[in-house]
Amino acid sequence: NVNPMPKEEGLDHTLSFAREGYMYIPNRRHSFNSNIFETRLLGKKAICMGGKEAAELFYDNEKFMRQGAAPNRVLQTLFGAKGVQTLDGTEHKHRKEMFMSLMSHERIEQLIILLRKEWESTVTRWEGMNEVVLYEEVKEILCRVACEWAGVPIQEDEIKSRSKEFGSLFESVAAIGPNHWLGRTARNNIEKWIIGLVEEVRNQELESTENTALHQFSWHRDLEGNLLDAEVAAVEVVNIIRPIIAISIFINFTALAIHQFPEAKAKLQSSGEKYTEMFIQEVRRFYPFFPLVAARVKKDFIWNGYTFDAGTLTLLDLYGTNHDPTIWDNPGLFNPDRFSEWEGSPFSFIPQGGGDYLTGHRCAGEWITVEVMKAVVDQLINRMEYNVPEQDLSFSLVSMPSMPASKFVINHVKST
Ligand code: HEM
Repeated sequence: NVNPMPKEEGLDHTLSFAREGYMYIPNRRHSFNSNIFETRLLGKKAICMGGKEAAELFYDNEKFMRQGAAPNRVLQTLFGAKGVQTLDGTEHKHRKEMFMSLMSHERIEQLIILLRKEWESTVTRWEGMNEVVLYEEVKEILCRVACEWAGVPIQEDEIKSRSKEFGSLFESVAAIGPNHWLGRTARNNIEKWIIGLVEEVRNQELESTENTALHQFSWHRDLEGNLLDAEVAAVEVVNIIRPIIAISIFINFTALAIHQFPEAKAKLQSSGEKYTEMFIQEVRRFYPFFPLVAARVKKDFIWNGYTFDAGTLTLLDLYGTNHDPTIWDNPGLFNPDRFSEWEGSPFSFIPQGGGDYLTGHRCAGEWITVEVMKAVVDQLINRMEYNVPEQDLSFSLVSMPSMPASKFVINHVKST
């Protein structure tokens, strides 16, 4: 049985997407009363879908591929060219193994030790400041930590400008005009810098530590036994450093949640690690970050009566799946307790993508993200005091990536 897919009529809806942002797909899933619909975006036919079943379909490697899925503006800023995000099949799996080899318990613990050290010395500096813009400051902390962990040498006087450049890679994806071009320039600068380091490692001009990303990626061999192009190795090193710095966005929302939900804050103060973890999961579910992921239909197939033609751009609704009322009770309520008896699912809770880490495209850094957020909650709750002055804490469901308008300002900081 073949059914026509609900379809948004018209030549192109890129403007509606720009206008509605995170709510573009959820709004239409609601109004079509369908988890799947067809539209046109960036001049092309596109299928949009969301919910647990759709996520399961989307992560079926027989049905979808990533080749040619990411729009150029994303490749030029966020992703970089020829990185792991654009690969399929055995080539993807081999490259992904390279990433996941960095994600051992011991290596993540080392990252957290670096983070705690940096955070604590930065709090001492914050004590002398009238006002701390948390988002900007945390980007700098994470830039130091991420570079050191990745084996990338960086001088203290470069931290400000490099953390701005890395930041603009994820701040500029959806931007139009000058901010978008700032992102492209930043990518060129950063890649040039890291390509130089890869070459120095290969020429033995720079001593690199065995288990770091810079070392591993410089010496990684592809399935034919060749080293990666220096450009590609650099793109992948950036694929480690950039997203670690991007955790600053979740950290800003973590601080916002601690401020706005005093009941949850009290429980963080009195309960143990289990509650901290539930709280973090709820931050990752509740607040907007990545709106969607994109793939293309690999070969023709029919699913639930709907026809998928090879090559069709297909978007999976991450934000809407995390707010899907058939999965989550009162999805608009911030409620960490919902995770107390949650059984886990690779397809219904997908702030960092779904499916499997090795065979699929699920975020390589999800464990790092959770551990970093846990350590930061401990710092904010147990190791410092601060005041949150009047400011505009509203955040938008349109502009991407979203964050509180004020970027979360604190003052009267004291370490405890
Ligand atoms: C992929 C989100 C942090 C490394 C992804 C994807 C999402 C995502 C949505 C795409 C999933 C897909 O294509 O199906 C996030 C968010 C983060 C975060 C919201 C919070 C800041 C990190 C960290 C790292 C990282 C800390 C590394 C240290 C990667 C890599 C991929 C990826 C390498 C590509 C995986 C692949 O294509 O196989 N992430 N991520 N991410 N992420 Fe993250």
